Amino acid sequence: MPGRRKIIIDTDPGQDDAVAILLALASPELEVLGITAVCGNVPLALTERNARRICELAGRPETLVFAGATRPLLRELVTAEQVHGKTGLNGPELPEPSMRLQDAHAVDFIIETLMTEERASVTLCALGPLTNLALALVREPRIASRIQEIVLMGGGFFEGGNVTPTAEFNIYVDPHAADIVLKSGAPIVMLPLDVTHKALTTAARTRAFRGLGTRVGVAVAEMLEFFERFDEQKYGTDGGPLHDPCVIAWLLAPQLFRGRCCNVEVETTSELTMGMTVADWWGVTSRPKNATYIRDVDHDGFFRLLVERIGRLKSPVPA
Ligand code: RIB
Ligand code: CA
Repeated sequence: MPGRRKIIIDTDPGQDDAVAILLALASPELEVLGITAVCGNVPLALTERNARRICELAGRPETLVFAGATRPLLRELVTAEQVHGKTGLNGPELPEPSMRLQDAHAVDFIIETLMTEERASVTLCALGPLTNLALALVREPRIASRIQEIVLMGGGFFEGGNVTPTAEFNIYVDPHAADIVLKSGAPIVMLPLDVTHKALTTAARTRAFRGLGTRVGVAVAEMLEFFERFDEQKYGTDGGPLHDPCVIAWLLAPQLFRGRCCNVEVETTSELTMGMTVADWWGVTSRPKNATYIRDVDHDGFFRLLVERIGRLKSPVPA
């Protein structure tokens, strides 16, 4: 299809990652060149397995899935089973994957793709800790000028953090990787907690997925019902924030979002604020404006898009 946007999805599934991957696979505007798994919500052995299970749920077993980093660059791995469950994809009953994992390492695939595809023609969609992207940038610095855009879910400033008072999980797990990415010079769009906390999976919205009556629609509802309980208890809200699909929705319908270009840097030394992203939203410093920082979303429009696209997926996976 002419004019399809070529993307690589780097991910630590994770129920919200799963919905983002399903949205991408359901959208003909996007060409998913590959999915690279990273450690994060759960260890890598589970995130790569989950990525393959999601592709098969979507009826897309031909998708290339690669395994990447098993731990952050410097810090010990911190996972989030308390949010996502032991498997990382608790909720729906999904079979063991039968599609195979690619032999190449995720970082090699990212480098190889960026060095062979036309310059500035591939977008990296980062849904987890940024370890794979940072390793690729360190291994082959030339890719920085060849990336069309890095669109990432991570960080938070006005909203604070979700794993510490100041840090969001993806950045907190590997702040050194985030620092490398933020200073890479590649065009960056950040979808932080400031915007994802405005996209809540209310009961009505979860019912809309179940109401699709499809294998994928019901599976998504089961994922959300599991995934949202942690944040509902924590924030006392109807539903929890649906973080990662904001990345794919931004590619498909950027008009749903509002933000501005500003400087964003990350704390990598203080234990008190480790992983905090500091957004110079009001331009009070002369630091370079290295990211488009998104703060607002038309959340009704976001969920309308999600339900419509998820509704397109026909799954061969038995209920
Ligand atoms: O803080 C939310 C982010 O951390 C999401 O990407 C979620 O999947 C977890 O990875
Ligand atoms: Ca994620």
